[in-house]
Amino acid sequence: MLLQLLLSFSQASSFQELNQCPANYEPGDYNMLFLSTMYAASQCLKYGAKPGIGPIRGTNEFTIHGLWPNFNASKYPSECNSSYPFNMKEIEDLPNLKRNWVSNVNPDEVFYTHEWSKHGTCATDLLPTIRDYFTKTLELHEGLNLQEIFRRAGFEPSSTKQYQKKAVAAALKAALGVDVLLECFTVNKKHMLSGVDVIFDHKADFPLINPGADYVRRYASRCSASFYLPPIPDECYRD
Ligand SMILES: *[C@@H]1O[C@H](CO)[C@@H](O)[C@H](O)[C@H]1NC(C)=O
Ligand SMILES: *[C@@H]1O[C@H](CO)[C@@H](O)[C@H](O)[C@H]1NC(C)=O
Repeated sequence: MLLQLLLSFSQASSFQELNQCPANYEPGDYNMLFLSTMYAASQCLKYGAKPGIGPIRGTNEFTIHGLWPNFNASKYPSECNSSYPFNMKEIEDLPNLKRNWVSNVNPDEVFYTHEWSKHGTCATDLLPTIRDYFTKTLELHEGLNLQEIFRRAGFEPSSTKQYQKKAVAAALKAALGVDVLLECFTVNKKHMLSGVDVIFDHKADFPLINPGADYVRRYASRCSASFYLPPIPDECYRD
């Protein structure tokens, strides 16, 4: 009996490892909330313009990717409640949804469904409904006002000018009071900013916090010492 139990346990655990089955996470099982933004122009340059997809005119230069409950830089919970499926009706009237949170690769609804099922269902301890999750994420993103920080510091979108990582990070720190994480990628030999990420504490008032040393290490080399901030090419707009 005991042997059988041990045997089935070890089979179950090796099956899990081989198939990368997600652990069974409960909503609320996380230490912090990671807000990932995307620099809209770079996303379109990398993934290409697609009809009906991408930024609308007047879009925020930094759009939302998602608000992700995380344990740390290398571990996060996901798919915390499969019995709470996404429903577009809950959020379609939210002001600024389409200005600040758009997909660059597939229809928005597919993107929202993914963000909700994978990440949003894990944050229902603080944000119980789909509408709460999307409303709060839009509010946190608006509170950062990244576009305004860049503008005030003189970091204008440009196809020819490069900006210093140190100067950009310093301007963001001065405005937000915490360190941010910068992400870049290279398209056609141009190294460009692809997004700015910040971390909020797992608390009801969502205070910004500094990324831990594990995040700083992981993100340290994602951007080189200088990078471009390209403008949004005209063909990238969906309308
Ligand atoms: C990340 O969090 C997980 C889950 O709490 C833990 O097992 C792991 O040791 C942590 N890793 C680091 C680098 O802190
Ligand atoms: C999952 O979502 C359903 C539907 O909203 C809810 O009734 C249930 O309590 C949730 N389960 C957990 C573990 O939060």
